[in-house]
Amino acid sequence: MKEIINGLSVFLEGNSKNKSIIFLHGFPYDHTMWKAQVDDLSEKYFCVTYDIRGLGESPVGDGQFTMELFVDDLEIIVDKLKLDRPILCGLSMGGYISLRALERMQEKFSAVILCDTRAEADGNEGKLKRAGAIKRIDTEGLAPFVKDFITNCFGDNYKQNNKTEFEKRIAKSSVFNPLGVKGSLLAMLSRTDTSDYLNKIKIPTLVICGEFDALTPPAVMKPLAEKINGAEFVVIKNSGHMSPIENPGEVNEAIKKFLGRLEK
Ligand code: MLT
Repeated sequence: MKEIINGLSVFLEGNSKNKSIIFLHGFPYDHTMWKAQVDDLSEKYFCVTYDIRGLGESPVGDGQFTMELFVDDLEIIVDKLKLDRPILCGLSMGGYISLRALERMQEKFSAVILCDTRAEADGNEGKLKRAGAIKRIDTEGLAPFVKDFITNCFGDNYKQNNKTEFEKRIAKSSVFNPLGVKGSLLAMLSRTDTSDYLNKIKIPTLVICGEFDALTPPAVMKPLAEKINGAEFVVIKNSGHMSPIENPGEVNEAIKKFLGRLEK
């Protein structure tokens, strides 16, 4: 079922009386990146996915986005749906939103799953790369940037064995509104660093990382997990940055084991 909340397209699967999980997708993707997780988990959990402002079906407005605005959107969705301390699950940019949301309102959530993400803000090199990306979108259009960015996200195994799906993913994101994509780049470029907050996270935490993730590799994610009290760290085999799409079997197993332990 689809609902419009605060202008955003929000997708609901499963029984709303069950424990809820709210999923935040990465950049430059949309809610469909969580399909394999929603298909597997919605029998037991109320699964909420949505398109982050400016991406997928969600409106772009003036394209002037900040991480704070993305967290405001998340809070409004949680409140409007009356979710009772949902489990937060974010990948990469969705992880940035999740970490900042915890820093602002940890009490609203009961557990967190951080996939292929980092707590550090962009350094100078990262900021310049984002600026270069915006310039490239302005001069060449969105498609060439999206193709290169998504190609870098996925591991070789997925690209070789799931050519059609991979190309469909590129085609889908290539027709997003360029203003929304640039707005997300600006929001990521200007986000705050949440590293100092990691040791203040008190809720159960699962950290997931694709073994071949080129953007947020295990060498970045293991120390992140080590800074969070009691966090569990799982490396997903045969996967790049998009582990929930690339190896849904292992990701779902790790998530279900984690959720099972929360029930005890
Ligand atoms: C993502 O997957 O959301 C992006 O890689 C995040 C980023 O560019 O920092």
